[in-house]
Amino acid sequence: MEKIAFFDARSYDRTYFDALAPRAGLELVYLENRLNAQTAVLAGGCAGVCAFVSDDLGAETLSLLAKLGVRCAALRCAGYNNVDLAAAERYGVRVFRVPAYSPASVAEHAAALLLTLTRRTHRAFTRTRERNFSLEGLVGTDLEGKTVGVVGTGKVGIRFAQIMRGFGARVLACDPAPQWGAGLQYVRLDELIRRSDVISLHCPLTPQTYHMLSRASFHAMRPGVILINTSRGALIDSEALLDNVKSGKVGAAGLDVYEEEADVFYEDVSSKVMRDDTLNLLLSQPNVLVTGHQAFLTREALRAIAETTVENLRKFFAGEKIETELRPSAAPAGI
Ligand code: NAI
Repeated sequence: MEKIAFFDARSYDRTYFDALAPRAGLELVYLENRLNAQTAVLAGGCAGVCAFVSDDLGAETLSLLAKLGVRCAALRCAGYNNVDLAAAERYGVRVFRVPAYSPASVAEHAAALLLTLTRRTHRAFTRTRERNFSLEGLVGTDLEGKTVGVVGTGKVGIRFAQIMRGFGARVLACDPAPQWGAGLQYVRLDELIRRSDVISLHCPLTPQTYHMLSRASFHAMRPGVILINTSRGALIDSEALLDNVKSGKVGAAGLDVYEEEADVFYEDVSSKVMRDDTLNLLLSQPNVLVTGHQAFLTREALRAIAETTVENLRKFFAGEKIETELRPSAAPAGI
C-alpha cells in the first residue's frame, strides 16, 4: 500500500475516497490541517500528498515535502493557482489534477442562486419558520422573457445557458473562444453588460479577467441588474459591487466566490470577529446571497473528483502516463 497524506480532509471527502482508495493500493492518512510550509511535516512517511484549492503548495512547502520523500501531489480540484509548478519540477514532485468533474453542479448552483434571489425564497424560509406568512416584500421577477448574459461559454457556461433557455430567457454570450455550434448569440462584453437583466460569470480568473466587472461596468449596467458569480471572486471589483448594491443599481447579487475568500471560506468563523467590512456589508444586505464556494459540492461531482484523483495516483505508482499531469508552462485555471 502507498501512503498518501490527505490534507484539508472533510467528512464528505472521506465518503467518496474511502470507497475507492484501497482497491487502488492506496492508504489515505486524513488530516484536517491545510497544507502549507508549517504543516508539510505531517506528510512524513508518505509517498504522496492529496491537496485542495485552499492548500498552499508554494516553493517552501514543496521543498519540505521533497525532503520528506514525497514524490507526488494529487490535486483534487481543477485549479492550481496555489501550486508553484516550476518549484515542483525542481524538487521532483509530480503534480496532477482533476480538470473536469461535473459542470452541471456549478451551473445548477448558479441557477439556484438566481432563482432564490428572483423569488425571495431565502426570505420566505426564515419568515415561515417564525409562522409569519405575510407576502409583503416577497414580490419576485419572472426569468421568462428576460435577457441573461453569460460571460464564458466553456463547460459550465454552456450548461447554464441551456438552463436559462429552459426558463424562456433570451441568452447573450461573450467568450473569446465562442462555441458557434451551440446556437448562442455572441456579443462583446460591453454590449452584454449594457443589455442584460442578469449577468452570470463563467470564465477563469486571469490577468485579463481581473475586475472584468469594474466600477465603469457597473455604471453601464441596466438598473436592477442581477449578478451571479460562481467563478472567481476577483472577476468583480467588490467595493464597486457593494456601492452599487447600496445605491440600488444592482437589484441582487448571488455570490459563491469572493475576492478575499481565502481567509474565511471553508471554515466556521461564526464565533470570530470578521474584519473584512466589504464582506460584512454585503452579507448584511437582504438582496445579497453568499454561499461559501460550494457550487461544486454535489454527490456526483464528489464521486467524479474521487474517481479521477484515485486513478491519477494509481497510474503514478504504476508508472503509467497521467493525462492530467501539470507542467510549469500550464496556463492558470479555476477550482
Ligand atoms: P472552461 O475552461 O470550460 O470555460 C471557461 C471559458 O471562459 C472558456 O470558454 C474561455 O474561453 C472563457 N473565457 C476566458 N477568458 C474570457 C473572457 N475574458 N471573457 C469571456 N470568457 C472568457 O471552465 P469551466 O469548467 O466552464 O469553469 C468556469 C469557471 O467556473 C472556472 O474558471 C472556475 O473559476 C469556476 N468554477 C467554480 C467552481 C465552484 O465551486 N464555485 C467549481 C468549478 C469551476
